[in-house]
Amino acid sequence: MSNRAERKLEHIQHALTTGQDRTNGLEDITFVHQSLPNVSVTDIDLSTKIGELSLSSPIFINAMTGGGGQSTLEINKALANVARETNIAIAVGSQMSALKDKEERPTYEVIRKVNKSGIIIGNLGSEATVEQAKQAVDMIEANALQIHLNVVQELIMPEGDRDFTDVLNRIEKIVSAIPIPVIVKEVGFGMNKEVAKKLKEVGVCVVDVGGYGGTNFAKVENLRRESVLDYFNQWGIPTAASIAEVRSVDEQMSIIGTGGIQNALDIAKAIGLGASAVGISGYFLKVLIEQDAKKLTRLIEQMKLDLTLLMTALGTRTIKELQLAPLIITGHTHHWLTERGID
Ligand code: FNR
Repeated sequence: MSNRAERKLEHIQHALTTGQDRTNGLEDITFVHQSLPNVSVTDIDLSTKIGELSLSSPIFINAMTGGGGQSTLEINKALANVARETNIAIAVGSQMSALKDKEERPTYEVIRKVNKSGIIIGNLGSEATVEQAKQAVDMIEANALQIHLNVVQELIMPEGDRDFTDVLNRIEKIVSAIPIPVIVKEVGFGMNKEVAKKLKEVGVCVVDVGGYGGTNFAKVENLRRESVLDYFNQWGIPTAASIAEVRSVDEQMSIIGTGGIQNALDIAKAIGLGASAVGISGYFLKVLIEQDAKKLTRLIEQMKLDLTLLMTALGTRTIKELQLAPLIITGHTHHWLTERGID
């Protein structure tokens, strides 16, 4: 097995064993109860938009894997089937390995093969060129393209990148060359308002906050080697604070709330803070691998139903209305936002 393939499988294994400590700040958010919601369950509409992309539900399967041979092909095939059956969008893992080695392409292409008319999101790192971005989109007929920022993960890996210059410039070129939405995403360390502002200035309309408190790539990478850089294990902007940071920059920017999302209340809170959609990676992978695809399908259907009930309780018919539902922010998240001058 190649080093790259081995690394992908180790990521999956360690993501499952490190688990999620659920410290993403959503525990600091409480909705204000409504005794007269004046809606019926049948009024609730879960459809949403990220940038120009319309989704039937705010929940999607976020980027994970591809390029590790037969075992990742099987995982992606199962995830694609679940996405098709539940009619939700799915993002693939970084496609760079398939751009470098054609033999790895089937592990990504399988997602489009089993989910012909679904919404599929491509994924590349910020080292990608415009040409590579176009190839990644073509490979899976992507409906949107994610560009991930993973500075801390790279720094922990001895073989990782050490040069992070010119990233914004490359992102700007990709945004102007690609005719589909470009989503810039973090991978569990969160995004701040200054970064969101810079991204907005180069034309990025959709940001996935990839907040701290869910899958922890510092822990995952540290488990893979002896020289442990464990000060990075608690490094990052928690998901709740990160959504509020990005929201404070521009109400028009679409925010994808991610990082430790596990249930419908987490989803509702992320949307209440300003997200338009919510991506889930580690938790869905855990259910798929430790249980099975049927259980994952059922879980997603249940999440949609639960979200409908929560929206009914709050009297919010649409995702846009849920974004405006009154809520209280306490604890660490309140302190964070006060320090950062965010209302
Ligand atoms: C990831 N993630 C990820 N992100 C990305 O942009 N490209 C990638 O290739 C991967 N690979 C990957 C593998 C595995 C096994 C996991 C669990 C995750 C990061 C992912 O998309 C997400 O940003 C974080 O995992 C935070 O979300 P959760 O897991 O807390 O829901």
